[in-house]
Amino acid sequence: MAEQKATNVHWHEGDITREHRAELLGHKGATLWFTGLSGSGKSTVAVELEGTLTEMGVLTYRLDGDNVRMGINKNLGFSAEDRTENIRRIGEVAKLFVDSGVLALSSFISPYKADRDQVRALHEDAGMDFIEIYVDCSLEAAESRDPKGLYKKARAGEIKNFTGIDDPYEEPFRPEIHLHSDQQSLEEEVQEILRVLGERGIISQQSGE
Ligand code: ADX
Repeated sequence: MAEQKATNVHWHEGDITREHRAELLGHKGATLWFTGLSGSGKSTVAVELEGTLTEMGVLTYRLDGDNVRMGINKNLGFSAEDRTENIRRIGEVAKLFVDSGVLALSSFISPYKADRDQVRALHEDAGMDFIEIYVDCSLEAAESRDPKGLYKKARAGEIKNFTGIDDPYEEPFRPEIHLHSDQQSLEEEVQEILRVLGERGIISQQSGE
């Protein structure tokens, strides 16, 4: 847990609540946390789902590892400590989106279980939905896709601490959704997520069918 450094700070409550914003939008916010190896298809599913949800009138926003690391987290690398801080910050950002009523679609390798659990606790303590989606894909399949050519570089020793090669990935024990991106089609994956969102009342059942 990051320590609270600033003292003498006080939460300032506004007049407009999360409930007001949900009423305005016609749905509440939630975080969909995609985790899995690089090249497993996290961002691909998130982009496809975003398109479908937008057509259904659900406001979404994608937070993506590579993108975020070019902005708010540009000062972080891939040491265990930096990955933890990466996930902590994004967890807080996702929570802000949820508070605003948006469905935050977060795609980060997030290799450490403890870091993901901390983001879950952050949401659940605030009464927010947190859906962990394990985009399961064998290392062989991810490596054969190698969309950015990074596995090749990691195997050649040109990138150190690459997840799955010389850095760990801790699988989720009980994710809300377990996709198998090396066996399922993109459409099947999206439908599975929509079904769970419908069952949990995050989107209306009808639209989730
Ligand atoms: S995380 O581990 O901190 O969650 P994040 O999802 O933000 O990682 O970033 C992962 C992306 O950074 C990968 O998809 C890949 O494009 C790139 N990358 C560069 N170096 C590494 C590395 N050593 N390990 C994993 N991904 C890396």
